[in-house]
Amino acid sequence: MTSPALPGPLASIAALPQADLKSIFTTDPDRLSKLVLTQGPIRFDWSKTHLTDDLMAGFLKLVEEQGFAAQRDALFAGEAVNNTEGRAAEHPAERGEGNAQSVAQAKMLHARMRALIDAIEAGALGEIRHILHIGIGGSALGPDLIIDALDGEGIRYDVAIVSNVDGTALERALDSFDPKYTLIAVASKTFTTTETMLNAASAINWMVEAGVEDPYGRVIALTASPDRAIAWGVDETRILPFAESVGGRYSLWSSIGFPAALSLGWDAFESLLEGAAAMDRHFRLSAPEENAPLIAAFVDQYYTRVLGCQTRALFAYDERLKLLPSYLQQLEMESNGKSVKRDGTPVDGPTAPITWGGVGTDAQHAVFQLLHQGTILSPVEFIASIEPGHVLDPAHHRALLVNCFAQGAALMRGKENADDPARAYPGNRPSTTILVEDVTPEVVGALLSFYEHRTFANAVLMGINPFDQFGVELGKEIAKSIEMDGPTGFDPSTMALIDLALGGE
Ligand code: F6P
Repeated sequence: MTSPALPGPLASIAALPQADLKSIFTTDPDRLSKLVLTQGPIRFDWSKTHLTDDLMAGFLKLVEEQGFAAQRDALFAGEAVNNTEGRAAEHPAERGEGNAQSVAQAKMLHARMRALIDAIEAGALGEIRHILHIGIGGSALGPDLIIDALDGEGIRYDVAIVSNVDGTALERALDSFDPKYTLIAVASKTFTTTETMLNAASAINWMVEAGVEDPYGRVIALTASPDRAIAWGVDETRILPFAESVGGRYSLWSSIGFPAALSLGWDAFESLLEGAAAMDRHFRLSAPEENAPLIAAFVDQYYTRVLGCQTRALFAYDERLKLLPSYLQQLEMESNGKSVKRDGTPVDGPTAPITWGGVGTDAQHAVFQLLHQGTILSPVEFIASIEPGHVLDPAHHRALLVNCFAQGAALMRGKENADDPARAYPGNRPSTTILVEDVTPEVVGALLSFYEHRTFANAVLMGINPFDQFGVELGKEIAKSIEMDGPTGFDPSTMALIDLALGGE
């Protein structure tokens, strides 16, 4: 694919001389005070990136040129910022921020969710020990991340999140659950997603085969399409709706967060929302030069659009956040992996890079070789917590953090070796460090809200709509056509695969 010319301010940024990180604290001794921002319990450190005063000035011009403030206002006002689908993107309203009517509606739906949770806890659905949450994409990744990150806070049920249509995933979850004590949450914004509907049907069969009398009576539907859930067999009283204007990958704050709210407790869920709301207010009210999601987007824009980096790597130096990279893959790549602008014209320059990553220190022993000495430049983001998630010997946490900080320093500093090039490190490789006080519901809420707004800010700076995802449709359509009409009219490769694996059907 070709990369068209960058728009004005970015072209000017590209023309600026590039700083060398190895000496950047000497050439710019104040950069720590300029490029570290603490927002509530989260400290963002961009001082080991190539951002300079000149680059900042360039990006601030881009902010003006792209009409950022007006688009941010439109987002929070509940205007139809998702222009290709003609709808708003009202995830902030779920946290109490935004259009007053939408906030009131979200509060009402949260009250309904809470009432159902109270009823379940009071035994209205019989004894519940296990929660089987069935959903995929945004209907699974968010709840999975929150529960995994926060289950140390005292989880009250066994929870399995099943997304893949591969029966092995469901079978493994069912193997550890007793159907008599299982609650099934079917999470699907559309209530049409093939994987989810097949998994849900198989879970019902599992209950029927085990002699559960009223299996549908054990199902809670989390959806923006209540009519479809009713038609599928769920009683209206066990449907937890959410607004159509909440996008799938932005939906964990809505009833899609039900398994988290039930298993972690309502207080934890509420704190998660409050943490996110605090970040919403920061994003909405802060000036561009003090705005964490926006500055993070400047860094993204610089590496992806100006330097042409095709990936960005993210390492959670905290086991509790190990699902963050998968969650962010959907958030960032499904939102901003686009080739046309809001008006349908081709984009000027690259859009979202590939988000990838893992957990520290494991990743150090697997992929860091390439980051230190490989031929591609991938900006790195480290996330660590001052407080540990365990009560073992503090030496563990110390070693974890020491490693995290050492990696950032090593990438930046490098090491010469004139005698042995194989043992030389080029350095000048950028990293951002996000340091949180602890992994609490508030912090996780604020962190995820930060990433949502950073994704939005990137989209505004590129002139694209981050809220649609038409790219996922074609493959689904073709799969459906094979199921419905059989495999006809495909290329020889596809026909041979179908013939071999599915017996020519
Ligand atoms: O295929 C992509 C997608 O539409 C995601 O955007 C969404 O999160 C996921 O599928 C699941 O959709 P649903 O919640 O409607 O089942």
